Amino acid sequence: MEYMFNWKNDINKNELDKVINVIKNDGLVIIPTETVYGIAANALSDEACTKIFVAKGRAQDNPLIVHVSDKNMIKRLVKNINDIEEKLIDTFMPGPFTLILEKKDCISDVASAMGDTIGIRMPSNKIIREVIKESNIPLAAPSANISGRPSGTCIDDIIEELKDRVDVIIDGGKCNIGIESTVVKVINNVPTILRPGYITEEDIKKAVGKVEISKNLFKKVNKNEKVESPGMKYRHYAPKTKCILVEKNINQIENIKKILKEYPNACIIGFKEDENTFRNNKYINIGKKEDLREIAKNIFTALRKVDKLKVDVAIIEGVEKEGLGLSIMNRLVRACENNIIS
Ligand code: TXA
Ligand code: MG
Repeated sequence: MEYMFNWKNDINKNELDKVINVIKNDGLVIIPTETVYGIAANALSDEACTKIFVAKGRAQDNPLIVHVSDKNMIKRLVKNINDIEEKLIDTFMPGPFTLILEKKDCISDVASAMGDTIGIRMPSNKIIREVIKESNIPLAAPSANISGRPSGTCIDDIIEELKDRVDVIIDGGKCNIGIESTVVKVINNVPTILRPGYITEEDIKKAVGKVEISKNLFKKVNKNEKVESPGMKYRHYAPKTKCILVEKNINQIENIKKILKEYPNACIIGFKEDENTFRNNKYINIGKKEDLREIAKNIFTALRKVDKLKVDVAIIEGVEKEGLGLSIMNRLVRACENNIIS
């Protein structure tokens, strides 16, 4: 790492020039967004995008999301935008929303993993927006983590994991939302959710009257299977420690107690209300039961704590698969590699 900048309070002009220089020279920048931190590089450069794949150890067939600062930049990068896509852009951008569109040739084929489409996202976070706007360069940026690990949402986790693999790290404080954007592709005129996120099924339905959810969201997908979104195939968000997800139902607490009998050296990732019930165990509080926003914000930092506790398993309290809860459960099911107690 060449530079580490603290922009929690404001963006320093001199430092901004240095960041832009690194991007123009095909370097890698860790940069905050409202969802999770990204590892960003020039989306128009094969060389820059290749460095992202190497830094993360990412599978070659898994395309990157390209971040833009405004609608004009979208038009520079993609071919056709139909009425539904236009409506989705106008409703949800800037914000935690990614739309898969047909790409123009200027976008690196490395970024699109040799495919014809590209995910476009206009973040609301002002640091990444300012860097894109001032450099006038769209930024390819996957989540800031080594592939398979929980996404980076706070700077200490990221420094530990990635400091030797990038040129600049920008500290923008803890990410507000904490889980990644909703990835949507309009298929036969129906917006289809390929990865659930902060923008929910209900939000999309309200905006354009229809929505579908990919059938593969909670499935274990084989590496050679063809799916709408390559990200569905890979191990994700997982600590090294074995994780068990205990679904939310009237037996949730009893089910956790049963697992604890089998694995006394366990930690629990659970709701604030249940901390006292498990006061004799290592406990990571992820927020109040009903406060899904708080839980979303804490989930990746909680998963990252697990390996430091030196336990045999992590037992995780699930939430209902509704609204933002669906997105949280999507991450947890993958972190637990389908080890689920219902
Ligand atoms: O919130 C976010 O989206 C964060 C921040 C940094 O913007 N980015 C992020 O990127 O989560 P990444 O690379 O970790 O996840 C991108 C997901 C993957 O599951 C990938 O398979 C899918 O989006 N994806 C990207 N491009 C695609 C495409 N052209 N077609 C289908 N799926 C695509
Ligand atoms: Mg990721």
